[in-house]
Amino acid sequence: MATEANNTLQSICYKRGSLQLLDQRKLPLETSYLDIRDATDAWHAIKDMVVRGAPAIAIAAALSLAVEVFNLEGFDGTSNDAVSYLIMKLEYLVSSRPTAVNLADAATKLKEVVSKAASKASEATSVFQAFIDAAEIMLEDDVASNKAIGSYGASFLRLQLNNFKKISVLTHCNTGSLATAGYGTALGVIRTLHTEKMLERAFCTETRPFNQGSRLTAFELVHDNIPATLIADSGAAALMKDGRVNAVVVGADRVAANGDTANKIGTYSLAILANYHNIPFVVAAPLTSIDLSISSGQEIIIEERSPKELLNTRGGLGEQVAASGISVWNPAFDVTPANLIAGIITEKGVITKTDSDAFDIKDFVHKASKK
Ligand code: MRU
Repeated sequence: MATEANNTLQSICYKRGSLQLLDQRKLPLETSYLDIRDATDAWHAIKDMVVRGAPAIAIAAALSLAVEVFNLEGFDGTSNDAVSYLIMKLEYLVSSRPTAVNLADAATKLKEVVSKAASKASEATSVFQAFIDAAEIMLEDDVASNKAIGSYGASFLRLQLNNFKKISVLTHCNTGSLATAGYGTALGVIRTLHTEKMLERAFCTETRPFNQGSRLTAFELVHDNIPATLIADSGAAALMKDGRVNAVVVGADRVAANGDTANKIGTYSLAILANYHNIPFVVAAPLTSIDLSISSGQEIIIEERSPKELLNTRGGLGEQVAASGISVWNPAFDVTPANLIAGIITEKGVITKTDSDAFDIKDFVHKASKK
């Protein structure tokens, strides 16, 4: 099985037994792929931002382990030994980055799959095969899920903004093909709006300090010929005040049971600005980004990254620009409270507020699982 190009950029290139990840640190100037042979390679690729974006991290991790076990020679153990091996590797992979829940969610599902396989067969190969099949399905499902998000999102915005024929949308960070298996979540909504001729213009923020917006989202928008303008993160308020943006659509790394949403640092400021200017602020994310085990965003662990990302250009990879000796606070994410969010677009529909002005995400997820 090979990944589908979908006419969009491909961050994950997989065929059974081999995995390459587009080195996103080098974009947009260089397009090169790194070979990922096992879970250790993937752990480093995730930690070092070769691959990033909540769904892409989860899929790349799962596939790295699929490649590892496909090429494993002489595994001398039972099916239960194979389960222990996979669980240990999955837990190691989950430790790569703490905020996005998709990887932990994928690991939980994969653990269930392999435990079930072990209960039916005594050979390790059956367990490894079940793991490979399940990881490959995650890759396939993600593109379909993103296309559904795009379509629900475009319909939702059409309803929210019924007096506009065409709308301009602001987005933050990168949530496109590079952050997923293809198409994207928030950027998927923008892609669908464009396909349906409803998009006037996409605005993307630089997304400092790692510049996922200027390097990656701008790259995807140019690649797809979508009318788009890059703004400095600090330009969002003026853009909204000038009436040049009709909606803000962002992705998510983790959505708590009450709708509080962790996403790239700066998302919270955009939500405050959008609400101040009466512009709908919406989150687009697959159900795998929802964490029903936490009641609010207060429980979300926010990853803090190296000071170098702020001290130097190119997210820490380029030359020093900040004064030596300055101390740095560099959280990679912030949490937007649910009260600032107009809707959460998923692949099963849009979660909107109930009469009591709160999200009932548990009920939505419960009903969605029965569809
Ligand atoms: O640090 P990153 O680049 O992994 O952060 C990515 C984001 O914050 C995205 O908005 C989120 O993961 C959703 S990607 C579909």
